[in-house]
Amino acid sequence: MSVDEQSRPAERGAAYGSFDVTSLTPHLGAEVEGLDLARPLTAEQLSDVRQAFADWSVLVFRNQHLDRTAHKGFARHFGSLHVHPLNASQADPSVLAIETKKDSPYVRGNAWHTDVTCDAIPPLASALYITETPECGGGDTLFADMYLAYDLLSPAMQTFLEGLTAVHDGGIPYVGSYKSTPPEGGYPRNEHPVVAVHPVTGKKILYVNSGFTSHIQELEPWESRAVLDALFAHIATMPRLHCRVQWRPNTLTLWDNRCTQHHVVWDYYPYSRYGERVSVIGDAAPAGVT
Ligand code: SIN
Repeated sequence: MSVDEQSRPAERGAAYGSFDVTSLTPHLGAEVEGLDLARPLTAEQLSDVRQAFADWSVLVFRNQHLDRTAHKGFARHFGSLHVHPLNASQADPSVLAIETKKDSPYVRGNAWHTDVTCDAIPPLASALYITETPECGGGDTLFADMYLAYDLLSPAMQTFLEGLTAVHDGGIPYVGSYKSTPPEGGYPRNEHPVVAVHPVTGKKILYVNSGFTSHIQELEPWESRAVLDALFAHIATMPRLHCRVQWRPNTLTLWDNRCTQHHVVWDYYPYSRYGERVSVIGDAAPAGVT
């Protein structure tokens, strides 16, 4: 079956008993209407959210009024709370401030990436709750579909990439872009398969990202650079892979880090944007193709 013949969630009749969804594109991203995340979810609602998450990878919930307890409580449905390497010394290390002001030294997330793939077990999902959007508009977040990024490669390229492993190095963003001082022993650095299998859907995903991936281990350095640059260009420049979340205050977006990448758009200088992100981990990183 070609990639154009594969059915999309909407065509598969994805519908949920406890809320409505409006999709952002035919394959990636959906707005969920009719759920109040400040209240405990019923078993049916939680089951529907899990199914919608598997179907759409990026879920947008508008008009939410969450304190940190409710935010973390919602995220905990998907895994245990993750501590970001740059946040370990904060009073609540599982809540990562995503704040940009006129004089911010850097804009967090301003490049295509998947969250913290330098970790041995990267966060499987992130829930970002934005409460302040720039007065001038903007500050949207782009997401890219890594199932489709894999599916759109030629069979020859897919076969070549399967079985390769890549190094993901926290020093690339945290020192290279954010200019932070590494902790003793440095930031995490770990290997992951270049093509992984999503543990819930069983589908293959392209699992390298320009934010963290330094090189492919089995290739010569110049080969690795050429292959990674080609894959990063494929992810960044293929509009068909992308959806765009336009934030309004009190929007929570939940995304699946295993099968998506994201890139915030910094188009609002000198205005401010504020939100808090809670990420969660499971038992293992995505495994390679066997
Ligand atoms: C992030 O990379 O988690 C930040 C995304 C955003 O600010 O929209």
